Amino acid sequence: MSIFATLKIQIQFIFYIMIHTIKKLGLFLSFTVLSLSTVVAQDAKAGKATFRSKCGSCHDVSLQQKMTGPALAGVIDRWNAGGAFKGKSGEEWLKTWIYNWNDAVASGNPYANKMQNFDASAMTVFAGQISEVEYANMLAYIKDPAAAAPAGGGDKAAGAAVTDSKDDSKTSYTLAILGAFVLLLLLAYFLGKTAKSLDLVSVEKKKDGQFAVNISKEDKTPFYLKSSFKSFLLLATVLVFVFALGKSAIGLGRQQGYQPTQPIKFSHALHAGKNKIDCQYCHFTAADSKHANIPSVSTCMNCHAAVQSGPQYGKTEINKIYEAVGWDPATNTYSKEPKKVEWVRIHNLPDHVYFNHAQHVTAGKVECQTCHGPIETMEEVYQYSPLSMGWCVNCHRNHDVQFVDNAYYNTFKKFHDGMKAGDRKRVTVEDIGGTECQKCHY
Ligand code: HEC
Ligand code: HEC
Ligand code: HEC
Ligand code: HEC
Ligand code: HEC
Ligand code: HEC
Repeated sequence: MSIFATLKIQIQFIFYIMIHTIKKLGLFLSFTVLSLSTVVAQDAKAGKATFRSKCGSCHDVSLQQKMTGPALAGVIDRWNAGGAFKGKSGEEWLKTWIYNWNDAVASGNPYANKMQNFDASAMTVFAGQISEVEYANMLAYIKDPAAAAPAGGGDKAAGAAVTDSKDDSKTSYTLAILGAFVLLLLLAYFLGKTAKSLDLVSVEKKKDGQFAVNISKEDKTPFYLKSSFKSFLLLATVLVFVFALGKSAIGLGRQQGYQPTQPIKFSHALHAGKNKIDCQYCHFTAADSKHANIPSVSTCMNCHAAVQSGPQYGKTEINKIYEAVGWDPATNTYSKEPKKVEWVRIHNLPDHVYFNHAQHVTAGKVECQTCHGPIETMEEVYQYSPLSMGWCVNCHRNHDVQFVDNAYYNTFKKFHDGMKAGDRKRVTVEDIGGTECQKCHY
């Protein structure tokens, strides 16, 4: 039989079954249940993004760490326990506070009034800036920050450097493939059930070698033994796998939000934030080479030979620096065997992409924070930007090149003259070739 004949039969079969199945709302119901469970999981993730962009510079939610504002771990319980007032629950007042804390204070709510004195600086007013949905998502995140963590992330054993970073995305894609497979089996089950209840299909080979689909009430062959059904199942399975494979190949290694635990609890919030140490004091190669270096422990020793204990962990974490350089604080000698600190790498572009820090930091005058987010508020660094191709290209389309007082650009004479003549108002990175494939790809 020709391949087209087989296909034709299959398509007819699929259509026939589909139409009858859609009539049976049982399937619809099962889909609703399945998709609901995924929606719940996404909420906290969306909430995390809102939280980080609007609240993250002053609040921390996962650690018990005070920043400008209080740590928000357990905050919903705190308001429910102490914030109920004038017939409204603590959680309702919490909402009032977050949208406009002045309203909560003006109402006379004692909890809000006490809270107002927490810090000399005041919280931002968010009235009109957070939608109901964003609020609900954000609350889901505050309630359970773990729900928004990347699968398997967060608690990786330290010391398993570099390659570790790809595991997270692999786990989630394996899950996605499994999920798709379960969904497919369910679909097959429901389709088959319909076929059986209607007792409708048999495939018959006619004398001229053609195949025909017979629809009869008498056929008692169970659906799963029918060859059309089996090939349908096979076809659909292959399709799902090809789709999942393609998707995972593109997304593999992408890991926005990745936040591994580091071997030493080094805090950017404490060093770059509170103590205002310049980024390039430690990452000094960022200005003039491709990579920004991770500082060696001897850089840490510039200060930590003297600073021997910290506010949060006392001596335990700083002692790890001494172990790493082989220094004995008691005798002030480098008398021990040094041990390497294996920082877990967070940002990692695929090998086929060329990215150069110096070009962006020195020539382009792009701030570290534009790409890395508010590092100076992070207790633990996480990947703030997606590092996808779209992310790079979008910025190149919209970002003006800094021509003024920037000798690096003297070569682009054409644009200079255009600017001077007044017929060109801006020059974007795209204009100087920043969206050409070979600029970013080896
Ligand atoms: C500019 C800094 C800042 C930003 C941004 C900010 N807050 Fe606050 N927040 C504070 C300060 C400071 C306090 C303590 C009250 C005071 O001293 O005025 C506070 C208090 C709170 C409290 C009460 C905490 C408790 O223990 O009861 C909650 C809840 C809160 N903030 C939620 C949020 C949320 C949600 C966001 C983001 C939508 C946010 N805050 C953004 C500074 C900030
Ligand atoms: C006192 C030294 C020090 C200072 C100051 C400092 N960093 Fe770091 N930075 C480190 C160390 C150590 C690591 C590796 C451990 C970690 O990820 O926390 C790191 C990691 C990072 C990473 C993640 C690297 C990766 O693995 O992908 C980024 C991004 C970063 N720093 C940016 C900044 C920026 C931006 C600033 C300024 C706001 C800054 N750092 C200030 C020491 C420092
Ligand atoms: C320019 C000075 C300087 C450098 C360089 C520096 N630190 Fe610190 N570090 C400090 C200061 C100041 C403190 C806080 C002491 C305090 O507040 O009591 C601190 C505290 C710490 C703490 C204790 C945190 C706590 O809450 O207990 C750790 C751990 C730490 N640093 C790790 C590092 C590491 C790792 C490096 C190198 C990558 C480094 N530091 C480089 C100045 C520095
Ligand atoms: C235009 C965006 C951009 C800017 C601006 C930028 N970075 Fe990066 N940074 C990246 C990307 C992309 C990577 C991943 C590079 C890779 O995997 O090769 C990265 C990686 C890093 C790393 C890990 C080591 C490495 O080079 O792979 C550190 C540390 C770092 N950046 C620090 C900084 C500091 C400090 C500044 C400011 C002086 C800065 N970055 C400015 C985009 C940027
Ligand atoms: C926040 C904005 C921003 C982001 C994000 C960004 N870039 Fe750029 N990029 C610039 C600016 C500004 C320049 C111009 C500086 C120059 O060419 O000297 C530039 C220049 C370049 C150039 C040189 C182009 C040329 O024609 O000389 C390359 C290559 C490049 N970027 C690669 C990347 C890659 C890869 C990424 C993503 C991983 C990225 N950039 C993300 C702003 C950005
Ligand atoms: C400004 C930098 C930049 C330019 C220009 C650029 N790319 Fe990319 N490209 C990237 C980055 C970064 C990635 C890695 C994305 C990731 O890890 O998901 C990428 C990934 C890819 C991939 C792998 C599939 C994927 O999405 O991960 C292909 C294929 C690709 N680029 C083709 C092209 C072609 C074709 C062009 C020219 C039309 C081009 N790129 C121009 C930065 C760039």
